[in-house]
Parts: sequence; structure tokens; C-alpha cells
Amino acid sequence: MKKILFVASEGVPFIKTGGLADVVGSLPKEFDKRYFDTRVILPKYMCMTEAMKSMMSYKTHFYMDFMGQQEYVGVLEAKSDDITYYFIDNEKFFHGPKPYGDNHIEEISKFVFFSKAALSILPVIDFRPDLIHCHDWQTAMIPVYLKERFAGGEFYRGIKSVMTIHNLKFQGVYDIKTIKNITGLDKSYFAPDKLEYFKDANILKGGLVYADAITTVSATYAEEIKTAFYGEKLDGLLNARSNDLRGIVNGIDYDDYNPETDEYIVRNYNAGNFRKEKVKNKRALQKQLGLEENDKKMMIGIVSRLTDQKGMDLVAYIMDELCQDDIQLVVLGTGEAQYENMLRHFDWKYQGKVSANIYYSEELSHRIYASCDAFLMPSLFEPCGLSQLMSLRYGTVPIVRETGGLKDTVEAYNEYESKGTGFSFCNYNAHEMLGTIRYAEKIYYDKKREWNKIVDRAMAADFSWKASALKYQEMYDWLIG
Ligand code: ADP
Ligand code: GLC
Repeated sequence: MKKILFVASEGVPFIKTGGLADVVGSLPKEFDKRYFDTRVILPKYMCMTEAMKSMMSYKTHFYMDFMGQQEYVGVLEAKSDDITYYFIDNEKFFHGPKPYGDNHIEEISKFVFFSKAALSILPVIDFRPDLIHCHDWQTAMIPVYLKERFAGGEFYRGIKSVMTIHNLKFQGVYDIKTIKNITGLDKSYFAPDKLEYFKDANILKGGLVYADAITTVSATYAEEIKTAFYGEKLDGLLNARSNDLRGIVNGIDYDDYNPETDEYIVRNYNAGNFRKEKVKNKRALQKQLGLEENDKKMMIGIVSRLTDQKGMDLVAYIMDELCQDDIQLVVLGTGEAQYENMLRHFDWKYQGKVSANIYYSEELSHRIYASCDAFLMPSLFEPCGLSQLMSLRYGTVPIVRETGGLKDTVEAYNEYESKGTGFSFCNYNAHEMLGTIRYAEKIYYDKKREWNKIVDRAMAADFSWKASALKYQEMYDWLIG
């Protein structure tokens, strides 16, 4: 039995801000249980819901040296879908209304504490993993510590580590003095071939230097991050480690996202009956959100963090023009104030046509995936993207920019060959996007049979975890030996 440990800052069902939580909550279930014992460590955030907290039971606690003080490390345990989760409890670090805050120093100390605690609890819970799979900068100190202070002891010797990049934009960067103080690393670690990064210190860089293998969440993003445009100034390092870097595309949980059984949606449907049944969801959503009730209106959805990454400036730029068209737009998201306000403004300006829902709602997200005709995701960069996979699964045709995982998972419609599962455009340009949306409108209104065949192909595409889980297993086997 090979023992695999996931360590991450979020995971479904316990806590979610984005796709990382979906991956951490769904991938471990997919490994072959005859060969892999996979467990997960998450922080116990005080902002978790009571329902989630009540699933956890206290296991043990101890005190750990951190920044010269003895800090409380509580360990809780829960089972979800047969996977064992451990939670690290410390109210000093994991307080606040959200998992992530705005103060960089606090964030860095929170997650360095978390990473060190995750390693420290292992002998206490009597679980010695063969491999620790780390996700994003929040856990990137683990590969470093494994080769540093935890390298000496018998227990930790030989534990392998994998660093998965879900988003290269976030790296945990601060001045060397501060990070040296928080991590306790000696100064030799702050050299250009280690954590030093343009005179500052970079935690993710540490993980990328010291991990035994690096992965990211699509093949195209794995190539893109080796270029200056997408590399976030780590392209040099990623090129140097390109033999150890691979892209494995994300899947989604086919039980949680299943139009046939989804309890959040008004009318269940499948690939056989969507032509008749899917529209009943649209009808209900129009009513719920106060949009014009009209089965025939093309409804376009967006479910997204409202940030530059997601192409929101392109949307802002053409909103007035787009709203002259015969469409409806339903948005669900939170993020930067400028985009939240922009969407509220257009919701007010085009009542009955635009619905901006500036909050987080699992239920509404499912209703949007099920109800809309098309789904817009014009990202500036997109490591993988899960929303477009959810849309495909619900027969909602994605309109995407050809970048990262969007390029790998959405095949552009080709009217001459009757191929494709969505629409795409190449350049980060608002009118190129608008032109593509209008092309989709044309097919939707003038060639409905063709449109429905796109939906057929979208719903037939397989983005379950099956193939990708095998690729992770192969990598684990290769690393553990
Ligand atoms: P990212 O992780 O970059 O935000 P992904 O497409 O990988 O993008 O994953 C986003 C996930 O978060 C999806 O499961 C999506 O449905 C969900 N999501 C994003 N915003 C909201 C929201 N406001 N309410 C509910 N779910 C949301
Ligand atoms: C990040 C990326 C997104 C990816 C998700 C899960 O949040 O922005 O593209 O799908 O991680 O890997």
C-alpha cells in the first residue's frame, strides 16, 4: 500500500474559494484504493460552517516551536466519501471571515505555520506518507522543510514531494528578512538558485526548487509557464526543471456535477432528453432572477472570481455593445470592487436582460450551469479552469479564450466539419471576443439543429477524473519506486 498525503489550503466539502478546493476534494477519491491510501490535511478555519465543524472530531494536540514561540497545534479528523481528512487547529492563525486575507505577512506566517504543522503532526497521527502532494504556494514550504529541518530524522527520510501549480500568479513573496524570520531557514537558502527572487524571498519558488516533481493542471499551461508572458518571472526556473514538470488536466466530480441527479436544479435532464428538458431550468432561472421569461432568448452565463485573470476587463469593455444583442446575461461572482460595481451597473441599466449576482452560492452556480445556453470564460490566463468543464457536462456551450486548460478542453466549433464542443478566440481582445459571441448567437438563432449537435458533443466529452487520476498514479509509482 502506498501512502499519499495531500496538503492544501482548501478542499470541498469543507472549505472552498475556487477550483483548488474542487480538485483537492475530488481527486483523492479517484485513486485505486487497493494500492493507495490517500489522506488530506487542511487548516481548520474558524470561518468554516458549523455543519462542517460538526463533522470533525478532536484527535490530539501539542505545542510546536514557531518563530521562537511555542504554538498550539490541534489536530482534528473527519471522514468524507471514505477519505480521511486531518485539520490543523490554531485560532491565532486561522481566524478571520475568509480563508485568505489581504495582509501579506499574516498570510505568509499562516501558511508557513500550516506547512510546518502538517509535517509535525505526521508521527503523532502515525501516518508516514511515501509522498506528499503539495498544492500552490501555501504549502510550498513542505518540500523545502523536507530537505532541511525534517531531513535528519528517521521518520521523514525518503519522503518524496510533488508540487502542483494551480495558479502561478500567487507565490508568497516578501522581503528576505521577514521570510527568513518566519521560516527559520538559514541565510544560505536565500540564494538565487533557492528562495531568492529579485532581491526578495519567494515561497513558491522554494517548493519548485526542492520538490521531486512539479505538475500543473493542463498540458498547455505547462508549456505557457515556461514563457515570459505566463511565467510570472519563474519561467527561467521552470525551464531549468522542465524534465520534472508535467501538465495533467483536471477533471470534475461526475457525481456532484451531474444534470441527471443534481438536486440544486429545477429539472433534471441528460444527453438524451436535453432538447426538451434543459429549457425548463432556463425558464425557472429567468423567473427567479427577474429576467424576461422567454424560452427562446439565448442566455449566457458567467460563474467566476471577478478578477483580471478571468478576462473581466474584456467583458466590461463590450458590455454596452453586447447588451444591444438579443441575449440575456447571468453572472455569479465576487472579487475586485471595480468589476463587482461594473456588473451591478449593467444589471441596473439593462433590467430584465442582465442579472448580476455578487455573492457566492453553490446552488445558483449549478442552476447557471444547467440553465444557460452558453457560458463565457474569456480568461487572460487559465491554468485549467473547471467552470467550462461543468458547463460542458450540463450541455451549456462554452465560449472561451484559447489559453491554458481552456484550449485543451474546449474544441472550437467548425461548421464545415460538424465538429467542436464550444467557441473560442485567440487574442486577448474585447472585439475578437464579441465577434465570437456573435458567431455563437448566429448559430444559436439561425441553425438550432447545429447548435444542438454542439451540445450533443459537449455532453459526450469525458472530463471525469478517470484518465487524469491514472496519470497521477503513474507519477506516484515512478517517484516512490
Ligand atoms: P478558479 O479556481 O481560478 O477560480 P475554476 O474554474 O478552476 O477557477 O474553478 C472555479 C470554481 O469555483 C468552480 O467550481 C465554480 O463553480 C466556483 N465558483 C466561482 N465563483 C463562484 C461563486 N460566486 N459562487 C459559487 N461558486 C463559484
Ligand atoms: C486555479 C486556477 C484554475 C484551476 C484551479 C484548479 O484556481 O485558476 O484554472 O482550474 O486552480 O486546478
